[in-house]
Amino acid sequence: MPLVNTTEMFKKAYEGGYAVGAFNVNNMEIVQGIVDACKEQNAPVILQCSAGARKYAKHAYLVKLVEAAIIDAPEIPIALHLDHGPDFETCKSCIDGGFTSVMIDGSHLSFEENIAVTKKVVDYAHERGVTVEGELGQLAGIEDDVNVSEENASYTDPSQVQEFVERTGVDSLAIAIGTSHGAFKFKPGQKPQLRFDILDEVSKRLPGFPIVLHGASSVMPDYVAIIRQYGGKMDDAIGIPEDMLRQAATSAVCKINIDSDLRLGLTAAVRKYLAENPTHFDPRQYLSPARAAIKDVVTHKLINVLGCAGKAN
Ligand code: G3H
Ligand code: 13P
Ligand code: ZN
Repeated sequence: MPLVNTTEMFKKAYEGGYAVGAFNVNNMEIVQGIVDACKEQNAPVILQCSAGARKYAKHAYLVKLVEAAIIDAPEIPIALHLDHGPDFETCKSCIDGGFTSVMIDGSHLSFEENIAVTKKVVDYAHERGVTVEGELGQLAGIEDDVNVSEENASYTDPSQVQEFVERTGVDSLAIAIGTSHGAFKFKPGQKPQLRFDILDEVSKRLPGFPIVLHGASSVMPDYVAIIRQYGGKMDDAIGIPEDMLRQAATSAVCKINIDSDLRLGLTAAVRKYLAENPTHFDPRQYLSPARAAIKDVVTHKLINVLGCAGKAN
């Protein structure tokens, strides 16, 4: 089947009480590992590219990799999504360039400015059959192009969500309930907590409407341990407990974003392989276990966190 937008995926996820995984892709091995897992588990999937990914791999390479994925896995629905679109121009370039879904991240702007830029993207996207994710509230965390300090992070205000959705026409909404980007989500000794009360209040005000959770890696301890065992420095890496993500997936949350756990799995596999095989230098040798680790991480998420294994049809 051709690339799909997120409309049908989210309708089924909402009704079925599960969430679709949105995994960040930056190269061929990551795309293949994710798609291998989703094909085997018969799961729908969102492959998402950040602005940083487009800078690293180039737009055309990413689109062609994902087009290859639909040839390799024609039986599962795959959406190609822009993660954290920083402005209208980036969203437009992705819409014009083959993406089926975009996020416009106006969460750092004032409420009115966020509405204005989000509506502009929605108007352009909907005319072309592309779905749009907006964001209200700010997550903490640091990545290439997403950098929000802890002081500037703020929970979503449920009293704003209805007006935001009505005035912009977005298809889904990312909210901030205590998740954050990256591998250091909580301080040692701090009890991980998510504001399910805010999620409940948002869902009450937006019945049937798909909610998105960013910063949802659990920072899988087994991979952190392997990275540390083989020389990596990742003290105090802490993620979202899996039972909380599971709870979120059964609610109005229809899309769960995972990047850091892929990075950890891939890095653990490469570090281990190179440490155990110091004479090897063929990238295919150490990228094969890296790709297998991506597949393992995604398989685990589909079955144990998202609940979307077997939901492709
Ligand atoms: O939320 C951001 C994603 O993890 C992408 O990170 O901007 O480093 O590609 P990136
Ligand atoms: P993690 O850093 O928790 O994997 O979050 C990824 C994300 O939200 C991408 O948009
Ligand atoms: Zn994010």
